Amino acid sequence: MKRATAPKTIGELNEKEAKAEHARLEDEIGGHDRLYYQQDAPKISDAAYDALRRRYEAIEKHFPALRTLSSLSQRVGAAPAAKFAKVRHTVPMLSLANAFTEDDVRDFAARVRRFLKLAENEPLAFSAEPKIDGLSMSLRYEKGELVTAATRGDGSVGEDVTANIRTLKAVPHKLKARHVPAVCDVRGEVYMTKTDFLKLNERQKESGGQIFANPRNSAAGSLRQKDPAVTASRPLGFFAYGWGEISEMSAKTQSGMIEWFDNCGFSVNPLTRLCRSVEELVAFHRSIEERRAKLDYDIDGVVYKVDRIDFQERLGFAGRDPRWAIAHKFPAEQAITRVKGILITVGRTGTLTPTAQLDPVTVGGVVVQNATLHNEDYIKGIGGNGEVLREGRDIRIGDTVIIQRAGDVIPQVVDVVADKPRGKKKYPFPKKCPCPLHTDIVRETTATGEEGARARCSGEFACPFQKIEHLKLFASRRAFDIDGLGEKQIELFFEKGWVQEPADIFTLGERNKKIKLEDEEGFGETSVRNLFAAIRNRREIVLDRFIYALGIRHVGETTALALARGYGSWKAFHDACLKAAKGDEEAIAEMDALDQIGETVIEGIKAYFGEKHNRGIVERLTKRVKILDAEKPRADSKVAGKTVVFTGTLEKITRDEAKAQAERLGAKVAGSVSKKTDYVVAGPSAGSKLAEAKKHGVKVLTEDEWFKLVG
Ligand code: IVH
Repeated sequence: MKRATAPKTIGELNEKEAKAEHARLEDEIGGHDRLYYQQDAPKISDAAYDALRRRYEAIEKHFPALRTLSSLSQRVGAAPAAKFAKVRHTVPMLSLANAFTEDDVRDFAARVRRFLKLAENEPLAFSAEPKIDGLSMSLRYEKGELVTAATRGDGSVGEDVTANIRTLKAVPHKLKARHVPAVCDVRGEVYMTKTDFLKLNERQKESGGQIFANPRNSAAGSLRQKDPAVTASRPLGFFAYGWGEISEMSAKTQSGMIEWFDNCGFSVNPLTRLCRSVEELVAFHRSIEERRAKLDYDIDGVVYKVDRIDFQERLGFAGRDPRWAIAHKFPAEQAITRVKGILITVGRTGTLTPTAQLDPVTVGGVVVQNATLHNEDYIKGIGGNGEVLREGRDIRIGDTVIIQRAGDVIPQVVDVVADKPRGKKKYPFPKKCPCPLHTDIVRETTATGEEGARARCSGEFACPFQKIEHLKLFASRRAFDIDGLGEKQIELFFEKGWVQEPADIFTLGERNKKIKLEDEEGFGETSVRNLFAAIRNRREIVLDRFIYALGIRHVGETTALALARGYGSWKAFHDACLKAAKGDEEAIAEMDALDQIGETVIEGIKAYFGEKHNRGIVERLTKRVKILDAEKPRADSKVAGKTVVFTGTLEKITRDEAKAQAERLGAKVAGSVSKKTDYVVAGPSAGSKLAEAKKHGVKVLTEDEWFKLVG
């Protein structure tokens, strides 16, 4: 946090200032590129780098004259492509032909028989497997040891993601089978479960990070990380289903190979079956399609593979597709419908979200009537960073649109069907908030000072919509968890004027003599008694839940826990927040050094505690509840009170486990190295943090040395 004063928003820059800042950013970004690509020693985080690039691009968007041929945005071979080393696959990674109907499957089986000259009555078995919607990966094992992991890339050349893949629990570093070939490329799919995808997006939202559209994208984004520690923190799975170069086959059939992968320590898909006729294949397809919605990972079809490997070898390839396999796809989870209207809702922090109201349509077995339109720019056809999503196809009321459900997430409008009659006029995004205050709508400012895509109600704490949303969060399961105080009750109590802010919940019982809740429709004496008992039970609360319940922007559950662990007590946390809000550099730096806490969270905390009204709400609330300290770490361990940074890939336990263990032992786990750091525990692929440790003279330990130290 070097910046003391907020930079001007792009709109506030004049041409001269924009030119100067554009040049300065070009220099700064160029310097970071050199550190990153040529010296492998970046000095700033990916997020900070991305923020610089976003501001640079936003300046060019506002001042197009600055976009010359030498501009960073025009250079070929820009940053991301050069992120990973290239790996040439010794056996190319090819694709699969598709079947959409039962007839296509019949044709496929008939073609196979014809090619092999097999009569109708001769046996022909297929391995039938779910087609996982993830990223294909080739893992090279030499003498049983994992040496390289590469993405598919263009099929011939992929990207080297070995360090990242090593962090996956589902990928053995050593093949466990009794006999292993000298060389063996194991191929399979990396994926993220739907549950983990939703959780990750929740965390990303809290920290202002990238929001992923579906589990596949989040798996790809998690894998293509420069820092393997980031991949390690993302739960990725892997199913093995094939092979590339292999010096010695371990089985004679596809199903036998899958069994061998299982013996080697890989996860293999448990739904895989051996089918002996087209009827069995079709029945398999049907049964998997029925289970599709309940599976916790996305699949987009099933794959049938001729089981005998000698047959596979005889069949070979036709172009880029094997003759011995086919993908039998499921219908896409997309549908076409019409936009009836657009509704704007106000969230807890004042963010306005436009939702398309649709003619009801069934997508993937679920009736959909609403789909998110994300924000004003998205409606216009502009994505993050200003890229054009839909040239000339802004979304209008009356348009026919394509909607999509991805990984059980909220449906979204993905495109407009241009050759259907269009809505008459462009959608005028409202200038006034739909809340009762009808305040002006303002565009959010991002941490880098530029204009964000999200519109916000400027009513802040005076906005009744925001107040209600905050009260709902406050009483919700993950915050105060007050039984009987659900969304409906909050709305009623708020409208009646009985509960305006959290502290009021705790005085409701005393005031009930006047209110007489039991006389309200839907309430009886028992339910009122239960509600007051539930409220009484919640007068004591642990620190992390309390912090989460405050509803600070960018402070979700995970962040609240990190803050609670970092500060230990409400007093310590509260003091730090008040100081940070006043701009106290030391308090801010201390917060910044906490693990998982960065600029966005700190901005949220500063804004919250900088507001007198919020300070009042907190003060009145803390008089009504007792906040329990975060679990006391052990004071008798050798690392109690020490600050530790973990970097590189840990081999014995995951990074999360290592952090939790260190915290239980009373250590403070930080995300960055400073002179206050006591130990840096470095795994094999440690990068810039190791250099930082040397610079500050911080003691560096191997994983084993660390275990020895903590016993
Ligand atoms: S076999 C020669 N089996 O689907 C092709 N692929 O459309 C070998 N996929 O790139 C591929 N699940 O990423 C195979 N059980 C499975 C699969 C599977 C998912 C993906 C894979 C491949 C793509 C082809």
